[in-house]
Amino acid sequence: MENSTQKAVILLKTDKDDQWSAYLQQVMPELEVRFWPDVGEATQINYALLWNPPEELFEKLTHLQVIFSIGAGIDGILKVKSRPAHIPLVRLSDKELTNGMVQYVIYAVLRIHRNMVNYDRLQNNREWGFYQQIAANDCRVGIMGLGQLGMACVQALKALGYNIIGFSRTKKNVDGVQCYDQSQLQEFLKRTEILVCLLPLTTQTKHILNKSTFNQLPRGASIINVGRGGHLNENDLLEALDNEHINHAVLDVFEIEPLPQDHAFWLHPKITLTPHIASQTVPASAVSHIVKGIKRHQSGQPLEFLYDPELGY
Ligand code: GLV
Repeated sequence: MENSTQKAVILLKTDKDDQWSAYLQQVMPELEVRFWPDVGEATQINYALLWNPPEELFEKLTHLQVIFSIGAGIDGILKVKSRPAHIPLVRLSDKELTNGMVQYVIYAVLRIHRNMVNYDRLQNNREWGFYQQIAANDCRVGIMGLGQLGMACVQALKALGYNIIGFSRTKKNVDGVQCYDQSQLQEFLKRTEILVCLLPLTTQTKHILNKSTFNQLPRGASIINVGRGGHLNENDLLEALDNEHINHAVLDVFEIEPLPQDHAFWLHPKITLTPHIASQTVPASAVSHIVKGIKRHQSGQPLEFLYDPELGY
């Protein structure tokens, strides 16, 4: 492990380098911060904090010891072919990241359950009208992905009275929540009225939201995708919305980001979309997770929230 006299040098390649730098230096003044692509003497860099790094980055950093992601999702780092597979890769775990996701998922569930899309339309038409209110307990929300973010959403939606079921690769035991594993996808889908995708993007979950998935949901079900664009087969969704099997989709992530100007999703009346903002990393809060990781590594303690190549996330 790291020898304690070695200076800690971190390279930043994120979308908020200035903020990260300021907070890192506040919390860990002894840490030297460098900014991609000005690596300086590259062999001195032992840590990297990254979002969508370019291929050349890993080719330069020959002495890296730990890679930190500024997001919970690490697919943007995994897809870089030059990433040295033996170097530990740490996912972000942060209270504000979780809170942001919970807030967004609650908003999206409410938008669908409380008919807000239709109320927007009524307002646009200066129309005073009503849609029948359905009790939260009669609205079944199926959460796909029961990791840190998924579980926080389960608890928050349960507290609002929603009827929650959960799906994950291996079966989870969650108090008061019927859980399904990957062999029971069909049963899970059959019972889901609002589907929330919070899975990690792996080879197993790519395009998991597809025509066959939609067809197994009850007619009139809705979709919320806050995982990754790669989870969704976009053409299959358009077809399912157009043939009215799916009622509405709230989408925050897309196969191509930024979403191309001419994409059919932009003005689709049955789609609510946002530009990958469901939960943005807040450096002021998340800095403690990074510093804790560096300190654990420096003192030879096992790293937490590590990417597991066998699981793919
Ligand atoms: C955001 O998309 C994240 O992975 O945290």
